[in-house]
Amino acid sequence: MAPYHVMLVHFPIALWTVAALVIVLRTFSDGKLARAADAVLTPLLFVGMVTGAAAFAVGLLVWPTEAATSSPLARNHILLAGWSLAYWTVLWVTRWRGGERVWQGLWRWVMLGLAALGVGLQTITGTLGGYLAGNPSIVSEIVRRLGWEVFTTFYLPNWVLAAVVISAVALAALGMVGARARN
Ligand code: HEM
Repeated sequence: MAPYHVMLVHFPIALWTVAALVIVLRTFSDGKLARAADAVLTPLLFVGMVTGAAAFAVGLLVWPTEAATSSPLARNHILLAGWSLAYWTVLWVTRWRGGERVWQGLWRWVMLGLAALGVGLQTITGTLGGYLAGNPSIVSEIVRRLGWEVFTTFYLPNWVLAAVVISAVALAALGMVGARARN
């Protein structure tokens, strides 16, 4: 399945990269071109999510599960692939449900921040995939200088996990209160 995985991953990577460029353009411009590009953002993100999910599923079939889950590098690739897919899916839902409002006030900067995070995650995902396919790149050196050695399993201390869960619940509650106040 390796050739199919390598062929499929081009779709989400290309679509998410174009989506990020559209977000940068729309963040800094209210002009005609930026609005026209933004009009295709929701479909771009949707197709990115579908092809990303397909690439993820086929990726799981490249190696036997025991092999993929025994290698720290492959585990890191799966983790980062999951995050990339989740982040870009959240961005799709945000743009789809939020409509034009996502470009008003502070919101546009949140969109820019989410897109930057998504690009960072997909870059590291691709870099780790490159190692698995025998195509190393210097991106891992950048990550190493930031404090993470990609050949060791990425982990978070328990207190960070607890903080993440508490923040997620708090943000969801805040969103519900906000939605109720608006209606
Ligand atoms: C959004 C999901 C994913 C993306 C964007 C992605 C991206 C990539 C990229 C860019 C490569 C390198 C291709 C090359 O340099 O020729 C790669 C290789 C690889 N990926 Fe993924 N990947 C994803 C999910 C997964 C998952 C879930 C697995 C499960 C273990 C996986 C396993 C592999 C393997 C084994 C290779 C090496 C293939 C080979 O030997 O040619 N990938 N991936």
